Amino acid sequence: MTAVHTPLRPYRNYVYAYPHKTAYRPLAPRPALADLWKDEARQTLSLYMHIPFCEVRCGFCNLFTRIGAPDGLIGRYLDALTRQARAVRAALGDERPARFATAAFGGGTPTYLEAAELERLCDIAELVMGADLRAIPLSVEASPATATADRLAVLAARGATRVSLGVQSFVDAEARAAVRPQRRADVEAALGRIREAGIPVLNIDLIYGIMGQTASSWRLSLDAALRWRPEEIYLYPLYVRPLTGLGRQADHAFSERDWDEQRLCRYREGRDHLLTHGYEQVSMRMFRRTDAPPQGPDDYACQTDGMVGLGCGARSYTSRLHYSFDYAVSMREVRAIIDSYTATIDFDHALVGRAINADEARRRHLLQSLLQVQGLSNAEYRLRFGCGPHEDFPGQLRVLAERGWLADGDTDRLRLSPEGLAYSDAIGPEFFSPAVRAAMTNYELR
Ligand SMILES: C[S@@+](CC[C@H](N)C(=O)[O-])C[C@H]1O[C@@H](n2cnc3c(N)ncnc32)[C@H](O)[C@@H]1O
Ligand code: SF4
Repeated sequence: MTAVHTPLRPYRNYVYAYPHKTAYRPLAPRPALADLWKDEARQTLSLYMHIPFCEVRCGFCNLFTRIGAPDGLIGRYLDALTRQARAVRAALGDERPARFATAAFGGGTPTYLEAAELERLCDIAELVMGADLRAIPLSVEASPATATADRLAVLAARGATRVSLGVQSFVDAEARAAVRPQRRADVEAALGRIREAGIPVLNIDLIYGIMGQTASSWRLSLDAALRWRPEEIYLYPLYVRPLTGLGRQADHAFSERDWDEQRLCRYREGRDHLLTHGYEQVSMRMFRRTDAPPQGPDDYACQTDGMVGLGCGARSYTSRLHYSFDYAVSMREVRAIIDSYTATIDFDHALVGRAINADEARRRHLLQSLLQVQGLSNAEYRLRFGCGPHEDFPGQLRVLAERGWLADGDTDRLRLSPEGLAYSDAIGPEFFSPAVRAAMTNYELR
């Protein structure tokens, strides 16, 4: 029987990484990278390079990025990226050579860089870091206006296997409401250029819950995306966060509860539409065309592998510490952090981060698997941690079952039910540790 619980708000926190960056703190003393990486496995590392530049600042966006780059800034940024890459490569050492299994350029908007600058970025990945970009999956984020034919040609030639285009909406009025000035015709032209470039995987990002969006305008965007038969589609619920353009607008059209309800409706419509048009669901946000070519290591979500992040908005993960540079949302602070990054000579130490102890590692493993459709393998969890997830999280898992958010009938795996998946952003925060929760609450957003 389903027990009675107070309703949980469905949109609390998008858990794409645990612990969240707002739980990181300045490290004192600052650990040397060589010590951090000394005992780490390095056979299947991920390389992430962050480009914190965009043409515009979209109203919903709280990513670490700035508008435009004054003369010379991109060159100085790439110089700093090279210095950082050299320091990290030296810290990884030559004794047990690092091997990168995946690479990604994220942002911001990596395609804000011009073709020659993208060549430089790829050179840093290959020549300094030793990543064999043509042999591994390489994913690149792009916006419509910056996805130009010459930049895409460079990326295709250097081995990009996936381009993710931020479309958000095919309805011009919705793009304006999200403070994302773009016209549908320009979006369609960018999609044409990406297909012409022959990069194997196209992902389209769409947002639901934008002011003024209706069931039929949402359907219009979904159908417009489907016409391109993208290998992947991400459906994002709109979040309006502090210090963003939309966050500063006082006049939100609906009450929070109505808005939650609307987003839940659009989610279910979007999910069902894609499921009946040849897509399978991978997580609450991600859908993949069932006949899309396999992506190899890109598909796997290995729980223990390390990530090397380069650039001032990038995180790096070792098994014991997650670290990055400082983080901010407001324009002034973002600019100051980028300027300080480009002036940095010594990249040998981690500045800001959060230790991952045994308890946090369990939470991270659980969150990374449970919020995927394929769920968590009890056996894998037991193998790694010596006991089952029910022994570590009895209270939370009991409540999920009582709410009807766990799928029945699979004793080997813990899986969310369809309704559980719809509430992924409410479920994730339930597994945050008290310490991470407190750090996130006390974080002073700048
Ligand atoms: C790095 S951006 C994509 C690349 C590129 N900068 C662009 O915007 O075209 C990542 C994606 O996250 C989604 N996103 C970011 N902030 C969001 C928010 N507040 N609510 C919903 N989706 C959001 C958007 O769909 C966006 O395309
Ligand atoms: S959504 Fe993309 S283009 Fe818009 S500000 Fe954020 S990173 Fe830049």
